[in-house]
Amino acid sequence: MDARAPKGTTDMLPSVARAWEYMTRIASELFARYGYEPIYSPLFEHTDVFTRGIGEATDIVSKEMYTFDDRAGRSLTLRPEGTASIVRAALEHTLVPQGAFAKLYYAGPMFRYERPQKGRMRQFWQIGIEILGAAEPSADAEVIALLVRYFEALSIASTRMRLLLNSMGDEVCRPAYRETVAAHIRSRSAELCEECNRRAETNPLRAFDCKLPSCQDVMSTAPLLRDCLCPECGEHYSAVKRYLDDIGIVYDEDPRLVRGLDYYTRTVFEIQAEGLGSQNAIGGGGRYDRLMEQYGGPATPGLGFALGFERTLLALQAAGVGIPAPLRADVYVACADPSLTDAVFRLTQDLRDAEIAAEMDHQGRSLKGQLKQADRLSAPHVVIVGPEEFAEGEITLRDMRTRGQSRVRLADIVGHMGSQLDGRSD
Ligand code: HAM
Repeated sequence: MDARAPKGTTDMLPSVARAWEYMTRIASELFARYGYEPIYSPLFEHTDVFTRGIGEATDIVSKEMYTFDDRAGRSLTLRPEGTASIVRAALEHTLVPQGAFAKLYYAGPMFRYERPQKGRMRQFWQIGIEILGAAEPSADAEVIALLVRYFEALSIASTRMRLLLNSMGDEVCRPAYRETVAAHIRSRSAELCEECNRRAETNPLRAFDCKLPSCQDVMSTAPLLRDCLCPECGEHYSAVKRYLDDIGIVYDEDPRLVRGLDYYTRTVFEIQAEGLGSQNAIGGGGRYDRLMEQYGGPATPGLGFALGFERTLLALQAAGVGIPAPLRADVYVACADPSLTDAVFRLTQDLRDAEIAAEMDHQGRSLKGQLKQADRLSAPHVVIVGPEEFAEGEITLRDMRTRGQSRVRLADIVGHMGSQLDGRSD
């Protein structure tokens, strides 16, 4: 047996899992302030949910999905992202009846069969939000502001981030624009790679994302969608920028930002962070006003974002931001004699029941070893249960900072610790 995790996956060991819990906690606190509620969808869906939603010609659908037949022969796919699933769930459960509005957030693993590298995994973790039922540009600005504020709440300085903004137009202006880009690709076909040539027929806008310098050169002279937006999309885009300006959110317009999912209409955005190398997009999103209809539902505008946990963690490390320290014990209950383990066990449980983080030894350590362990756990207090004191209904309480000791009645220790810790300065 190969004892290593599969390529492109990694175990979230406690130091990383702690960071994930921290990031999800900050997210749920912040998102609640903006009115979002949690939602959890299955990790796999009928394959159609993604092919139809994300688009057959995208890299995600054509190359990166984990698709398999289940035992009954249904084609299922591990979710490569959350938006398609949330919109499917909203349709199934009528979360957004006519004229209604839903604000949802989610967190969990996503799966894409990509070439693993720093910041790019096959199983990676996202936190995302979706607003369904909101067409107004103020919603776009709110979503973007929330993503920026989230990274700021994690202490990534805004100077270390770059917010890119674009409009992808809609079904009125984009088809003609796609044709213009396809024509541009065909006219320069000899200078472009095979894949970009193929894209002219399938998904011409993806050619903007080709990493080859020769292709980038050709695409740098391609017509830009912002010059071809219909009046409605143009107005919507201007209003989004105006709202962002009003609240001081700094952005760079990037007319070549196309993003890798076909469901987008109008606003798209991405946040890149310093110090990550080529996989520097820590979060991104946009509007998808036609997605619900593509699933056979009613016209329901939508928009949202997702941020990648692994890349955000790299951005935090690059910025020198620490994740809050591991859990420590408030009290270590040390056993001075093996005959007293029952009493130690009971007292530890009583302390925990009183909402005090208490720890005891489970490895038969000597008293000296237990005191060392208490130090390792940075426990500020140690309760020593010793035969003499115990016989008199007392224990020894040691303050690990001053090393001072006192005797406290066993019956009073839980209350005593509670009042000591209430006055602590964390
Ligand atoms: P996305 O840009 O494909 O958008 O992914 C969002 C974030 O997930 C990226 O910015 C990146 O941080 C992270 N990510 C993507 N792929 C990987 C990977 N292979 N390894 C590590 N991290 C990765 C979406 O997924 C859309 N659903 C966002 C959205 C929500 N749009 C509207 N609503």
